[in-house]
Amino acid sequence: MRTVHVNTGNPYDIFIERGITGDCGKYIKKLSSAKKVTVITDSNVAKLYLQKVVNSLEKEGFEVKSHIFSAGEESKNLNSISAMYNTLAEFRMTRKDIIVALGGGVTGDMAGFAAASYLRGINFVQIPTSLLAQVDSSVGGKTGVDLPHGKNLVGAFHQPIAVLIDPDTLKTLPDAYFCDGMAEVIKYGCIKDEKFFDRLCKEDARKHIEDVIETCVSIKRDVVSRDERESGERMLLNFGHTLGHAIEKIYNFKGISHGMAVAVGMVLISAAGERAGITQKGTTEKITRLCLKYGLPVSDNASLEQMAQAAAGDKKTEGSSINLVLLKSIGDSFTRKIELCDLLDFIK
Ligand SMILES: NC(=O)c1ccc[n+]([C@@H]2O[C@H](COP(=O)([O-])OP(=O)(O)OC[C@H]3O[C@@H](n4cnc5c(N)ncnc54)[C@H](O)[C@@H]3O)[C@@H](O)[C@H]2O)c1
Repeated sequence: MRTVHVNTGNPYDIFIERGITGDCGKYIKKLSSAKKVTVITDSNVAKLYLQKVVNSLEKEGFEVKSHIFSAGEESKNLNSISAMYNTLAEFRMTRKDIIVALGGGVTGDMAGFAAASYLRGINFVQIPTSLLAQVDSSVGGKTGVDLPHGKNLVGAFHQPIAVLIDPDTLKTLPDAYFCDGMAEVIKYGCIKDEKFFDRLCKEDARKHIEDVIETCVSIKRDVVSRDERESGERMLLNFGHTLGHAIEKIYNFKGISHGMAVAVGMVLISAAGERAGITQKGTTEKITRLCLKYGLPVSDNASLEQMAQAAAGDKKTEGSSINLVLLKSIGDSFTRKIELCDLLDFIK
């Protein structure tokens, strides 16, 4: 069992252990006096792990209700949240009760948002089952949904009371989603940990996945504990994401996954940093090789002009400028504010 303590406003632990999904009831019982638990999950994960989770919760005496939504980012909207509220209200969930988010990042973000807003906030537990959710989205308390105008435009900061990570669930995760999660894993090495980056280069991440998960959540924990609401250091977690989001937007979030777009974004921004004399020479080559090793693309057909234009509409712009995350070298990152009108010149 590996435990990572997160010292945010409401502190909590992240437990990493093979098979913990089937034991989740015990952990939740220790943390809460709840009578009822609503498990929110998507249609794919429900077939694989829902029964196990429900059995474990019922064994501990919880009254359990399940809420299943159709898998995929298309479901990450306010209609799905409304359906969740109906389930919670019909089940007469009170402020003392608990929501369990069982699934990938879409489930975690939505169940977390339902928990943040139902009855002005109830407790929730994350049981992340995709690599992206295990290394990134289940930690840090960002919850929310997409609007037709863009991704994650409505949401709240709401920390879980625990995160239970079962690396065994990755055995059923399709390869494409594993690669997607690897983009975030590589990002952590780039921004904070050169030794970890080197290990990813030398070894196969799948063979030491518990170490990979623990390292990533520890880095995220450190960053989030110092800057819970993204006013400073937390922005570093967006390395590769400014251009990555721009690429996703150009393709209308179809045909290119988040991880693929972030991989291209990391390579492009690192190359721009090298050209500007900010980033150590050879850094882009290292990131490129590592992305290719994990099946991620390193270039895209969209033009830099299109990317700069799409980035200007990013929700993270501040007036006429945007904070870019740049590397001095692998493991050493910083943010630099750049005027949007200078972005194209910088990345060109
Ligand atoms: N809150 C945050 O800090 C944060 C950070 C990064 C990303 N996100 C969000 O995360 C979402 C992406 O997460 P994701 O890639 O996990 O997407 P997802 O939740 O849609 O999961 C990807 C796919 O894998 C399936 N799946 C999940 N676990 C499985 C398993 N163990 N076995 C088989 N299939 C499984 C799902 O059903 C889905 O089809 C985006 O909406 C993004 O905005 C949030």
